[in-house]
Amino acid sequence: MPASIRRTLALLLTTATALATASGALATASAVPAPAGGAPIDGSHSGGDPYFPDAGNGGYDVQHYDVDIRYTPADRRFEATAAVRLRTTVALRSFSLDLRGLTVRRVSVDGRAATFAQSGRELVITPSSPLSRGRTATVKVVYGGTAGTPTDIENAPYGWYSFGDGAMVVSEPDGSSTWFPVNDIPADKATLDVTVTVPAGPAGTVAVGNGRPARPPRTAGGWTTWSWSARDPLSPYLATASVGNYRVTTTRGPHNLPIINAVDADLTAANLATTTASLALQPQMITFFEGIFGRYPFEAFGAIVDDDSVGYALETQTRPVYSRVARESTVAHELAHQWVGNSVGPAAWQHIWLNEGFATYAQWLWSEHRGQGTADAAFAEVMAIPADDEFWATVIADPGPLHLFVDPVYDRGAATLHALRRTIGDTAFFTLLRRWATQNAGGSVTTADLEALAERVSGRDLTAFFDAWVDSAGKPQPPA
Ligand code: ARG
Ligand code: ZN
Repeated sequence: MPASIRRTLALLLTTATALATASGALATASAVPAPAGGAPIDGSHSGGDPYFPDAGNGGYDVQHYDVDIRYTPADRRFEATAAVRLRTTVALRSFSLDLRGLTVRRVSVDGRAATFAQSGRELVITPSSPLSRGRTATVKVVYGGTAGTPTDIENAPYGWYSFGDGAMVVSEPDGSSTWFPVNDIPADKATLDVTVTVPAGPAGTVAVGNGRPARPPRTAGGWTTWSWSARDPLSPYLATASVGNYRVTTTRGPHNLPIINAVDADLTAANLATTTASLALQPQMITFFEGIFGRYPFEAFGAIVDDDSVGYALETQTRPVYSRVARESTVAHELAHQWVGNSVGPAAWQHIWLNEGFATYAQWLWSEHRGQGTADAAFAEVMAIPADDEFWATVIADPGPLHLFVDPVYDRGAATLHALRRTIGDTAFFTLLRRWATQNAGGSVTTADLEALAERVSGRDLTAFFDAWVDSAGKPQPPA
């Protein structure tokens, strides 16, 4: 027995004796401090976000997802294998991944069969032996079933949302578990490889993911395989692998940035004309927002424009998804999200205004740049809403899980930034925007982080400003 362990044992015995003496009972094994690193535990089934307690898990961080899907749009048959590379943050006897609506057939951990159980949205995995803390493991899950038409807490379509000719895949806030086993919290960012194999032929023939193509599409035996690789870590809700009758074109933006657009062949003529005109502006928009937020943070950009609709667009990382049409202001909004929302992400869902308020403000700035109305005018429009309107009832720093996407999160959020600009002046304000995007690139932020940086950059105490504009309901007084 090495001396160090002898010393530890002696210490434990002393402690146990002291405890026994103090409590008048024998110290049980559980009262003895755990060995260095901690005894293996069952990882939490919650990622700890109070808005979505079922989403996410505890005990590990994901580094990489590799998802391989075979999908048949006609009957929505979905069969997949996912390899999840994770690193434990505590010693784990078991841990969970989020997965719902699909049946798990097999699980292995580092190539060894693991036991598993599915209940509700959780897939609980027990490896053949516990995982020590700080260890990397690859969890392979074979799963499948019939894809559906999932809806979020507000009953809006999201997740792997099937249509007759494919699927739109948009998972904000907690929908990625409808298509892969995942630690579904925004702060656990990981790289992602997606391969989708679909029937070759005129319908449902193209699958488009994040990042860049990993390989050219390959057709064999009546199936075509599309492979995508996202090298910039992304939050799970920003993953996509949309399937449709797309025409894919690649152009270049500033500093040779690849811009990959997938536009549905079945758009109406009017929607196609609008979409084509908007997408042609993407290089100029990138240059404009680089002037505000600093260099574009990812390896590629582009669009997926489907002829079907989930009722909204989503800023899926490097490749936003649009319903039926991509309008200029929406493209500007989803592009701005690549800096604010995606690269600089919310630490928890209550901070959604840091996504939507910033992207909406960026939209105001783009409109002004295009001569389509000033930020001052957009601000005045918000401030013209009467004080007794329910618009002013939302506390944007904590809107609640049912109100993530209400107008005040967007418009009061943007107005707050304009009011901040008037309060601290243009120089400090635009320094703040750039530092916000560059210093927090790849990270996760809170409203308190914004307040702290705004105070540092402006040299002012902004407590009263943030209290009135962000942390309270009620219509704030616009600064002079
Ligand atoms: N984040 C999206 C945007 O760019 C909106 C998502 C709306 N989602 C929803 N379930 N309503 O504004
Ligand atoms: Zn948005």
